[in-house]
Amino acid sequence: MVVLPDIRQRGGLGEDAEARLEEGQGLARAIGIEVVDAFIVPIRAVRPGTLFGEGQVERLAVSIAQSEAELVIVDGSLSAIQQRNLEDKLKRKVIDRTGLILEIFGERAATAEGRLQVELAHLDYQAGRLVRSWTHLERQRGGFGFLGGPGETQIEADRRMIRNRMARLRRELEQVRRTRGLHRERRQRAPWPVIALVGYTNAGKSTLFNRLTGADVMAQDLLFATLDPTMRAIRLPGIEKAILSDTVGFISDLPTQLVAAFRATLEEVTAADVIVHVRDISNPATAQQKAEVEEILTDLGVIGDEAEPVPIIEAWNKWDLLADDERLTREAIIAQGIPDRTVVPISAVTGEGVDALLDVLSDLLTGGAQVLDLTIPASDGQRLAWLHAHGEVLAETAGEDGETLRVSVRLSPADLGRFTHL
Ligand code: GTP
Repeated sequence: MVVLPDIRQRGGLGEDAEARLEEGQGLARAIGIEVVDAFIVPIRAVRPGTLFGEGQVERLAVSIAQSEAELVIVDGSLSAIQQRNLEDKLKRKVIDRTGLILEIFGERAATAEGRLQVELAHLDYQAGRLVRSWTHLERQRGGFGFLGGPGETQIEADRRMIRNRMARLRRELEQVRRTRGLHRERRQRAPWPVIALVGYTNAGKSTLFNRLTGADVMAQDLLFATLDPTMRAIRLPGIEKAILSDTVGFISDLPTQLVAAFRATLEEVTAADVIVHVRDISNPATAQQKAEVEEILTDLGVIGDEAEPVPIIEAWNKWDLLADDERLTREAIIAQGIPDRTVVPISAVTGEGVDALLDVLSDLLTGGAQVLDLTIPASDGQRLAWLHAHGEVLAETAGEDGETLRVSVRLSPADLGRFTHL
């Protein structure tokens, strides 16, 4: 049973409530849970002990009896105490949004780094719960915590174990990251442009990725089918080779413990030459989803970096699902143009519009390439190597003084920006 608390005290969910309820059910299904009942519970004032009011808890119990639900998912945040009290009253296991997302991430993480990140997040979540019930215990003792006792010693021991395990995980992560950093450097030195697919969870990134690469990344009607960035080489019109990278799906209200994990997997995006923002244009919450994706891209410094803006293409996916009048409305919006964005309507499933997307990508990546004549100190091997790796060196001649080289090179605008920052 999925229960979405709509906390009016904090402004409430308003029109988004239904879409959020849908999303919550999608999250549950993502790990194979069968949803037998789902509803929104408006909360005027939060009860510290149970979140819901007394009458509401009773109604939850009735719904559980009717639907025979075995698990209650509260699509919000529960304190350790609220969770325990609800479990006592409802006689069912209760988990909150963070617990649920951690489960999903745990199941999906495929790389060493993903797994370490998720385990770390899980421990962090558990440690927070232990601390809370520990202070709760202490309070019950009326402040005589120094007397010690079996319960407290156990919790102390658990906490120490968790702390040690977390420290070890952090060290392992550090190691994995160093390796990944090296991989990325090597890729950046390679002369291939990088295209990153980003988008809200379930927008269709993996489906598009598979269509473009012929690969078989798990594409399912499951959220977070992609948790770790996947990379493949593709050909574009006029471009021998480009690297396409599929990234983790975005989601609103990501548990804080997972933000770091999520960002780490998104670091790839900051090194991209072009970003394709895949949007599920048929989803009623598509505008909200776009705002959330762009907020994170802004945080990562991908949007709004005036020195080196990364061009963004919006792929309006699932175009095949739109009704005729919706298509007309959307087409009119595209015809008007959206500042700083190129929009391409596509269907990753039928393939409609995908060639147009490839053309736009190849125009962006090759278009505007300039031939520059540069004079570089002959001793500056690093910059010379960089030019050879990133540009097309047309001619290289020694200067008359013998200490400089004249290099004639064709560079894309993005690489030109990078070169001037070297
Ligand atoms: P995450 O891994 O959660 O980030 O999802 P994703 O963005 O990779 O989405 P995925 O490719 O797994 O697609 C999600 C669902 O949408 C699947 O059931 C796809 O078949 C479906 N889908 C993707 N693109 C289209 C499309 O253009 N049209 C239609 N009708 N369905 C699509």
